[in-house]
Amino acid sequence: MGRNWKQERKRDFYYKKAKAEGYRSRAAYKLLQANGKYRFIKPGDRVVDLGSAPGGWLQAAGRLVGDKGEVLGVDVKPVAPLKATNIRFMVGDVLDPSLPSKILEAFKTKVDVVLSDASPNISGVWEVDHARQIELAQAAFTLAKAVLRKGGVCMVKVFEGPLTKEFQRELKQAFEVVRVFKPQASRARSSELYFLGLGFREDSSQQV
Ligand SMILES: C[S@@+](CC[C@H](N)C(=O)[O-])C[C@H]1O[C@@H](n2cnc3c(N)ncnc32)[C@H](O)[C@@H]1O
Repeated sequence: MGRNWKQERKRDFYYKKAKAEGYRSRAAYKLLQANGKYRFIKPGDRVVDLGSAPGGWLQAAGRLVGDKGEVLGVDVKPVAPLKATNIRFMVGDVLDPSLPSKILEAFKTKVDVVLSDASPNISGVWEVDHARQIELAQAAFTLAKAVLRKGGVCMVKVFEGPLTKEFQRELKQAFEVVRVFKPQASRARSSELYFLGLGFREDSSQQV
């Protein structure tokens, strides 16, 4: 992490806001802004958050679902324990084909919302990073098809590039409505976008 990057971060509006409001990452505002616009996380929901470290989305989702809801985070890196009793975490890999059954086992039922902010380690070679990112997004989508209830919602991060159109087309087959969203908290220079699938159609061939 370079000195300039650290200095830039200190001046960043959402970094300071996250510190002031007790969020572990400025990324929390990306989820809050998406939900502010589309209102897809509701009190009482069961939410899975893939690629959840250090935990900003977990905290934001935990506040949105409230006491009657439940949030489960999954990341290859551990997340330091959070105080909220409606948030759980497991170390896991989105690419692991046994992850959907572990998630269903944890909730004992299908879930309302699947989130994925998973990102690969950035190599700096744009084509490589784009392809790795789409691989994670595809894996999150496959998992969502296995664990979402009918009518459920999926929000997935992608890095925009030649492979995103095909991914969007696949999402359109599985969800009633697909929206593309760039939160204000997402840096303008970043190619990151979020695809939001609303109204999961449910495909019995995808059940685990
Ligand atoms: C941008 S960070 C997520 C930030 C998080 N949404 C927050 O609000 O704090 C991306 C995360 O994706 C995770 N990740 C990358 N590859 C993964 C994989 N194959 N399975 C699970 N998590 C992965 C990384 O470890 C990293 O913690």
